[in-house]
Amino acid sequence: MADSSLRSLNGSLNSPYWLRRIWGLRFIFRPFETLDARAKAYGDDYQVSAPDSKPVLIYFSSPEALEDIFTAKPEQLSAGRGNQILKFLLGEHGIVLLEGKAHQRQRQLLMPPFHGDRMRSYAQVIQDITEQVMRPWTIGTTFAVRPVMQSISLQVILKAVFGLDSGQRYDQLRQILCQMLDVFGSPVGAMLLFYPFLQKDWGAWSPWGRFLRLRQQVDDLIYAEISDRHTQPNAERTDILALLMAARDPNGQPLSNVELRDELITLLFAGHETTASALAWALYWITHLPDVRTRLLAEIDALDDKAGLDPMTIARLPYLSAICQETLRLYPIAISAFPRVVKQPMTVAGYALEPGTVIMPSIYLAHHRAAVYPEPKQFRPERFLERQFSPYEYLPFGGGDRRCIGSAFALFEMKLVLFELASKMEMTIANSQPIRPIRRGLTMAPSDQLRMRVTGIRRSISSSPLIRR
Ligand code: HEM
Repeated sequence: MADSSLRSLNGSLNSPYWLRRIWGLRFIFRPFETLDARAKAYGDDYQVSAPDSKPVLIYFSSPEALEDIFTAKPEQLSAGRGNQILKFLLGEHGIVLLEGKAHQRQRQLLMPPFHGDRMRSYAQVIQDITEQVMRPWTIGTTFAVRPVMQSISLQVILKAVFGLDSGQRYDQLRQILCQMLDVFGSPVGAMLLFYPFLQKDWGAWSPWGRFLRLRQQVDDLIYAEISDRHTQPNAERTDILALLMAARDPNGQPLSNVELRDELITLLFAGHETTASALAWALYWITHLPDVRTRLLAEIDALDDKAGLDPMTIARLPYLSAICQETLRLYPIAISAFPRVVKQPMTVAGYALEPGTVIMPSIYLAHHRAAVYPEPKQFRPERFLERQFSPYEYLPFGGGDRRCIGSAFALFEMKLVLFELASKMEMTIANSQPIRPIRRGLTMAPSDQLRMRVTGIRRSISSSPLIRR
């Protein structure tokens, strides 16, 4: 049991069961407001579960606690156990559910394609896909921001994971993956994740039934691709499926088809909706706040791009980088890092935790501590130019041995896409209503109502490419 000095949601925890359920629903529908209210009442670190219920669930957001969590040894904390909620989608062999040595091996295998030269080799793909999306736009075109950003990030991840960029299988995967994730794309749909008793197949028209049928179609497409690769091996391929198929475990065994499927779906799932939502927010702030836009355009226009730009020059632009960092601070796409389950008695921020305790490292609350981020509700990229934040103060990609393996790739993609959009298009927000964060599954995104209108072309798309090929 958590140390008695840990503050808990006493008032609410002693309330009747049905009232606590309603507060649970509030967290699904309005997570940020719920977390703000709790932090105001109970501080940085607090217990959420009722005193008599198991497991004990604790939220942590103080830098001291986050440091203890992210530097804990794998024998002290388990993330795989806490991620069981995702097994219905990712299977049990994807990196997110693996533990110990198998998890470490998988990380070592998957990190290189998302870093360094391999990552940089996607610059042209990212630019081409962004241009392709922008090509039909003329002055007056309006578009729904998040779905368009999702279309870009899905095409990029499909290329990275499968090396696919055309063909019937590619078109079907794009379409069906989006439909499948849309099942959880609203707070009501997200309830399916939090309340397993709703996971009932009442036929193709019921939400869960629809999900199961779409998942089957996605699986069929993935297995068909794996099967083709087995029958027509090609040593030239550099995509992630080729890498996974060439890998051997310590006994010299390759991954089974089920293991390959679980890993591929994990990367498709983890790697595109997250980046799409982050891009949608960033574009929102750039368009919504004239000072941010002006400063970004000044940075872009000061570049000498006659011979095309090295993608790393773009990735290192200070203000563009600060916009991406502030975007992921204010409304972090993942509200919390993966839950960690205590395996051995341990201490976090001075609190003694027993095995079985579930820890939620709260990214949102850590990013909204006024002591670290003055005026935390304001979008102010300058704060990232004025000082550096520790990995326990700023953690949009989580931390420790579970830290997101796609963080560098996601930031690289965000900067190139935003650079393309901002340097070529002038836009305005087409909505009259304020835009607020909406739950999409486990993540937070701008509502699909967010639309933009093209008001001017700064540079024609067919002009010389901005990024050097
Ligand atoms: C803006 C975009 C993204 C955000 C905000 C994000 C956020 C996160 C967070 C918070 C975690 C949990 C870390 C923890 O619990 O400590 C995570 C894990 C993970 N992410 Fe991302 N992510 C993004 C993009 C990507 C991309 C592009 C990929 C690439 C395919 C990716 C692949 C993964 C994987 C495989 C894990 C599990 C790591 C493990 O279990 O060891 N993510 N991500």
